[in-house]
Amino acid sequence: MQFGHFDDAAREYRITTPRTPLPWINYLGSENFFTLISNTAGGYSFYRDARLRRITRYRYNASPLDSDGFHFYVKDGESVWNIAWQPTQTELDAYECRHGLGYTVFESALGGVSAKQEMFVPNGENCLLTRITLKNTSDAAKQLKLFPYVEFCLWDANDDSTNFQRNYSIGEVEVMDGGRVIYHKTEYRERRDHYAVFWANRPVDGFDTARDSFIGVYGAPAKPEAVLGSGCKGSVAHGWQPVAAQELSFDLAPGQEQDVIFGLGYIENPVEEKWEAPGVINKARAVAMMDRYPDDAAFDAALADLAAHWDDLLSNYTVDVADEKLGRMVNIWNQYQCMVTFNMSRSASYYESGMGRGMGFRDSCQDLFGFVHMIPDRARERLLDIAATQFPDGSAYHQYQPLTKKGNLGVGSGFNDDPLWLIAGVDAYLRETGDYDVLNEMVAFDSDMSLAQPLFEHLRRSFHYTVDHLGPHDLPLIGRADWNDCLNLNCFSEHPGESFQTTGPSEGPVAESVFIAGMFVKYGPAYSEICRRLGKDDEAAFADEAVEKMTKAVLTSGWDGEWFLRAYDAASQPIGSHVCEEGQIFIEPQGMCVMAGIGAKTGEAEKALKSVKERLDTKYGIVLLQPAYTKYYLNLGEISSYPPGYKENAGIFCHNNPWVVCAETVLGHGDRAFEIYKKTCPAFIEEISEIHRTEPYVYSQMVAGIDAPTFGEGKNSWLTGTAAWTFLTVSQAILGITPDYDGIAVDPCIPSSLSGYTVTRRYRGAEYHITVDNAAGVQKGIASVTIDGEPADVKRCGLFETGCIIPAQPAGSVVNVKVVMG
Ligand code: GLC
Ligand code: GLC
Repeated sequence: MQFGHFDDAAREYRITTPRTPLPWINYLGSENFFTLISNTAGGYSFYRDARLRRITRYRYNASPLDSDGFHFYVKDGESVWNIAWQPTQTELDAYECRHGLGYTVFESALGGVSAKQEMFVPNGENCLLTRITLKNTSDAAKQLKLFPYVEFCLWDANDDSTNFQRNYSIGEVEVMDGGRVIYHKTEYRERRDHYAVFWANRPVDGFDTARDSFIGVYGAPAKPEAVLGSGCKGSVAHGWQPVAAQELSFDLAPGQEQDVIFGLGYIENPVEEKWEAPGVINKARAVAMMDRYPDDAAFDAALADLAAHWDDLLSNYTVDVADEKLGRMVNIWNQYQCMVTFNMSRSASYYESGMGRGMGFRDSCQDLFGFVHMIPDRARERLLDIAATQFPDGSAYHQYQPLTKKGNLGVGSGFNDDPLWLIAGVDAYLRETGDYDVLNEMVAFDSDMSLAQPLFEHLRRSFHYTVDHLGPHDLPLIGRADWNDCLNLNCFSEHPGESFQTTGPSEGPVAESVFIAGMFVKYGPAYSEICRRLGKDDEAAFADEAVEKMTKAVLTSGWDGEWFLRAYDAASQPIGSHVCEEGQIFIEPQGMCVMAGIGAKTGEAEKALKSVKERLDTKYGIVLLQPAYTKYYLNLGEISSYPPGYKENAGIFCHNNPWVVCAETVLGHGDRAFEIYKKTCPAFIEEISEIHRTEPYVYSQMVAGIDAPTFGEGKNSWLTGTAAWTFLTVSQAILGITPDYDGIAVDPCIPSSLSGYTVTRRYRGAEYHITVDNAAGVQKGIASVTIDGEPADVKRCGLFETGCIIPAQPAGSVVNVKVVMG
């Protein structure tokens, strides 16, 4: 069942009922001011940090779900309704929500009135704009009332939802121009230098700033007393819950329409410019902001700028292909989600409260794979931030805070895959840009500039950290966990509330990870390539030899007979082996080791992928492990704490399904690769939205596995490494267009039924139109290449030499490449 449909020409998802299986959201803003907005206008705004600068309040886990947001009540005689349906839930004659790139539009109608609510954050601006248009579609004159309503958060979202003894006394506002402009200035009197402002671009009839007055002490957003009764009461909040509510009149002749623009802004003042008079906040910057959006022309111009911004970002990689679902994911939604992960990391979604983890070391390195081609400069900055949270011994803080950029002491380090992701991230950046200067940038260790070393030295220590931390089988020590945060082999947590990851010592125990070994073999060659390009031939030779040894260790001690083992636990017992009672086979090492080419020429890789197909595959994707753990294992940790089929305990973890897709392409299995790709791909599962439940235009972190009673149900949409990995997979491994050190590698691995496509790729300032012709109906392999019509004798690439490298062209040039498969 569907609850809407894609509109590719408009680059929108059009939701046609407010009763979606879960709130389906969008993100507005891509610099500092952000808003989460659902298909019923639920959500919240914040400035930069979703915990410390929360502008409006949002109650997670509430019932009814998602009723805090950006609500506009229309009153037409006795009839009261919301343009986006919530919170009154009045049945509407018409409803549509269109989520587009950085904007959302609601259109609805009831009883001869049609309404439109358009929302976006202008480029370079710290405010959310909303334009409301009301039209009288009846044949009688109408006197309508419109009431906008938002509830302010007292800035620190965590404190706001816990510290009521203080917070009920601190709320303060200022009201100007009869309520047309409402300032929220809680804590501005002391240490804050920022306030929020809500305004309308035309006079209002009334206002309220105290929630009790507008909603009623025992009222509810679904039936606000002021709206149902005789209008706003002009309340000024002193403590309790400051809100911005206004009352506006629309007198509309038949067929007439009128609009009004509302803004919600965030203003920061230098300390010496905080006040305009004692106790009166300096409003100059707010006034300047309002003056930038006086009318429709300004609103429309800002909206056009936003569209141009997205046009530009998305034209770095586009595909022209007959399969429209594939096209819309590659050209629009997958890249869009990658940009959202750049902006949000794992902080604010409908599953991440904005108060939690901050930026993950490994997460941020992987997210970069999905946006480096769109925003290389910001990717560079991100890499330097990440690297600065590494420890001098090469290990790393597992997470860091976006505002302070300091590592989180609580989680600490000891997640032994982290250092290698830095190599992977830097490698992706270098391939995209060729900017080797970045390797000379001085970067702190542990955020301490006195310990700073060139970025290259960070990579060297990352690589050697793995080399120097091997266990009894010559495989990398796992530490607190590797990619799988929940496989905690050294931790032994027995008490509720304890962290599964940080209980027990991180050094000492000898559990080993075959997954990290696979990563080492996959990204080690990137490190050695970087060394060679810097003239460090000895180090390159050392790296090659270490990779060689690791490959042997995997084939000797990491191979179970039909698939790759997952790990050895602290007692050196195998995990993910046929000898185990549960958890006999895991997805991660099969994907990673085969991607790395381990056993690709000697048969193990084929066997491993065959085992994945036989044992882990389901109609909705590949589950993380089988059989699911049915009880808690002290020696395994959090993974066995989840009920079977959920999360890391045999859920379909969408992040590592693409690893198997990439692995299949290494072996040339284009049909199978595409089959797996489609299973978790939003556009291909839109028809089962009633089962999948999360947004049909973005990936979720997890889909319930075959062991779960809710098999196929998605959770944790938007902020997941799945976005970057699926984009890398489809753009590079399947469509086969990969940035390489000196050019673009072309090595498609596609379903034999796909007869061809054209990719347009901007790369280092040049534009490549690469047409792939698969009239031969093969899955992999290139028969001939022409560049601008001339036969080209290009260097071969790929494990089996199936691909070729199109040399980098001068910036500014446009080149036409034709690749004939066969
Ligand atoms: C979450 C974490 C990520 C981890 C994965 C598997 O997505 O953000 O760091 O690799 O879970 O545990
Ligand atoms: C990852 C996992 C989650 C786990 C968390 C612990 O996010 O997906 O299951 O609870 O890590 O840090």
